[in-house]
Amino acid sequence: MSVLLAVMVYRLLGGGLPPAYMQVVGSVESAAIQRDFFLFFAYAATYFVVNSVAVSGVVALNTERSFRDIWSLNTRGVIGYDLGASAIALLLAWLYTWFQATWQLGSIGLVLVVIPIVAVRHVYGLYHQLQESGQELLQVMVKAIEARDPYTSGHSLRVSQLSRLIALEMGLQIRDVEQVHTAALLHDVGKIHEEFAPLLRKEDRLTPDETELMQTHSARSAELVGIISKFRGFIQESVRHHHERWDGKGYPARLSGHDVPLASRIILVADTIDAMTTDRPYRKRLPLEVVIAELQKCSGSQFDPEIVQRVISSVAIRRLITVGIETSPMPVTVVLSDPNAGRPERRGKPFWKGRRA
Ligand SMILES: [Fe+2]
Repeated sequence: MSVLLAVMVYRLLGGGLPPAYMQVVGSVESAAIQRDFFLFFAYAATYFVVNSVAVSGVVALNTERSFRDIWSLNTRGVIGYDLGASAIALLLAWLYTWFQATWQLGSIGLVLVVIPIVAVRHVYGLYHQLQESGQELLQVMVKAIEARDPYTSGHSLRVSQLSRLIALEMGLQIRDVEQVHTAALLHDVGKIHEEFAPLLRKEDRLTPDETELMQTHSARSAELVGIISKFRGFIQESVRHHHERWDGKGYPARLSGHDVPLASRIILVADTIDAMTTDRPYRKRLPLEVVIAELQKCSGSQFDPEIVQRVISSVAIRRLITVGIETSPMPVTVVLSDPNAGRPERRGKPFWKGRRA
């Protein structure tokens, strides 16, 4: 459909076969070249628009996500490639005409033209392979931490989905939304280190020394995340500070207010909501009203008030809290990044408050 419509536009604007003006070397007319470039741009643009709109439309319908998000995500960074690749096609058509006109190369000319096309295809293939490897690497990291910590099975996936939703509600650009999503997915990956294993397995409450050690997990997560060059910067810092509090009483750097990276503030809220909205061995998940009341109570102390406000007023997030965040195919057991999750309760305090590590 894309090719058909693009060809129709090309023909309607007066486009035809590759230009004959290349037949004599050196006698290229600039006006003709400009006209052909315009026609080819019209062809490429039509192809790109029809193709991306149709594909994004189908994906949006099937996933119930917004068309704008899907289109922006799928076309971001590839507009240049797509139009550039079309320009290469134009160049090759010209070269072919030129080869035939000047040297009558016949089938050899065809081979000379096909080689660059194969090379471009190969580069595209490598690019996709690289993208896939990145995704697989993420999955391995998440599986590794969830295998280590039975209390957090499915937790990273749910927190990443919720963080993504909050980031969208905050009006972030789609590129930043995806970075928040990745940071949330990896926020506890540092717990893979051996030193945390006995703490994660411990049934009783952690001692002060153990809690102190456990609190190093955010820095260890950032260390691990930083091994991957494209995660350095935004994602790494968001992971490092995911336990900072709005009032500056968090860790590791005791940052406060807007000094805490926005993604870290979002992850903290998502982390807490997930803790409250999943079943625990000794209680069912908490209802929406209780979750909202807790968020409001800690707004301005633990949480960024603006994030709390956005969460509370978001229909999509309220629905997610009500029905539970079901994203993981893995069985959900206990779901807290808190080292004391599933351990005996300290009386007089909310189950998750003051025990986060
Ligand atoms: Fe954590």
